[in-house]
Amino acid sequence: MASDQKMSVLLASNRGPVSFRYDDTGALHCVGGAGGLSSALAAIPRQENALWVAAALSDADRLAARSTPDGRLDAGGFDTGTIPVRLLDIEPLTFARAYNGIANSTLWFLHHLLFDTANTPIFDARFRHEWESYVEYNLAFAEALAHSADPGARVMIQDYHLSLAPRLLRERRPDLAISHFSHTPWAPADYFRLLPDDVAVDLLEGLLAANNTGFLAPRWAQAFLTCCEGILGAVVDRDRGTVDYAGHRTFVGVHPLGIDADNLRARADQPDVWARMAGLRDLVGDRRLLVRVDRAELSKNIVRGLIAYRELLRHRPQWRGRVVHVALAYPSRHDIPEYREYAAAVQRVAEEIVEEFGSPDWDPLVLAVDDDYARSLAAYRMADVAIVNPVRDGMNLVAKEIPVLSDDGCAVVLSREAGAAVELGDAALLVNPFDIEATADAMHTALTMDDDERRTRSARLAATASACPPKRWLTDQLDALAAAARA
Ligand code: F6P
Repeated sequence: MASDQKMSVLLASNRGPVSFRYDDTGALHCVGGAGGLSSALAAIPRQENALWVAAALSDADRLAARSTPDGRLDAGGFDTGTIPVRLLDIEPLTFARAYNGIANSTLWFLHHLLFDTANTPIFDARFRHEWESYVEYNLAFAEALAHSADPGARVMIQDYHLSLAPRLLRERRPDLAISHFSHTPWAPADYFRLLPDDVAVDLLEGLLAANNTGFLAPRWAQAFLTCCEGILGAVVDRDRGTVDYAGHRTFVGVHPLGIDADNLRARADQPDVWARMAGLRDLVGDRRLLVRVDRAELSKNIVRGLIAYRELLRHRPQWRGRVVHVALAYPSRHDIPEYREYAAAVQRVAEEIVEEFGSPDWDPLVLAVDDDYARSLAAYRMADVAIVNPVRDGMNLVAKEIPVLSDDGCAVVLSREAGAAVELGDAALLVNPFDIEATADAMHTALTMDDDERRTRSARLAATASACPPKRWLTDQLDALAAAARA
């Protein structure tokens, strides 16, 4: 592919579908990317005229980007196994301030309602430096997209890292059909107003420059509309799902993301997963298996989930010795102190539980923090009960993946604050994620559920979870974008 070839479909996200590692000899290797967004977008078929633009996340990524013409990794000898990728070599300090400072300390906290308002947020000179970097980071994407897009091309921009990119791109290329998709919740207007006024306005105007802006659940779309009305004074039509602002119309849509069941089941039938299942069987024996799988970060509410399990063991002693809780909590965003402290808190509570209840012949809780996808899939297949209790979540794909993979039916205790709760509804056991007693009660109900009910509920969950697989999710949005650009 020539470095100046123009593309008709472009995707943009912070984390791309691939990343690079050095091997022992110092050679660069391309490996598959991590994260829900990556696996969803990887469903796009290999096609000549599509390009995925993402940030280089490490030194190895930067080197790979530099060693290929125009940073396009399919053209430089790396087989990405997906659509052509261009990694943007953004200056490391700018990247760190944008990703750690704004995206994951400010916007992630904002949309998941994680601020502890007595202490955070603090909008000071440091914040302003970070914000400048966030603008620069968004500009790097807008320029790369503007450079590579065919006239009238469709550009799909993903997530809170890139809230300003639609507007920066529109200023450079008014001919493009641009969409933005939020994989997080959207903060209620009163919470959004915690931001400095100019920042709040820039974020909303950034998204409104798109033709389409999408959300995973109706609640998040409604919150966005309320912010547009209340903060910008935009004209909102809730029936049509439109926002008119500064002479431009934006269509606001809801596109819940589901699971590619066939693919996932095929992956979970590989020898590495069978081997992990044998290990889990040895650990659990004939006890019930309660599973959770999360990135170890604050919105996932792991600490409260563990405390609820402790409540279950304290107040319902019949479960002592009869259940094993396997909690897989993978490291996430460890450059940010709050995330590191949270992971340490998870570890502490887990140790307390083992200390209080553990015995030579019973491990009440096994917490594992090393990344092992095959082990997660093994746990999904074998779980009798899953706990998915985020304080707030755009969707939560774990709640969908577990019933799809379950070998003998799994009862899912699910936070009502996860986007997935809207679709999965009463087939799951819905809980208020802050209510530890109610969560412990739901665990008990799930553990005592009879086999028929558990299997029936699990089958309903699996059917709903696979209703809109990633390929359809993408195609629907590409169609919606073409329609919006024509309107
Ligand atoms: O939930 C939003 C999101 O961007 C997901 O799409 C993705 O799985 C996750 O956050 C990635 O986080 P990070 O790239 O910081 O590990």
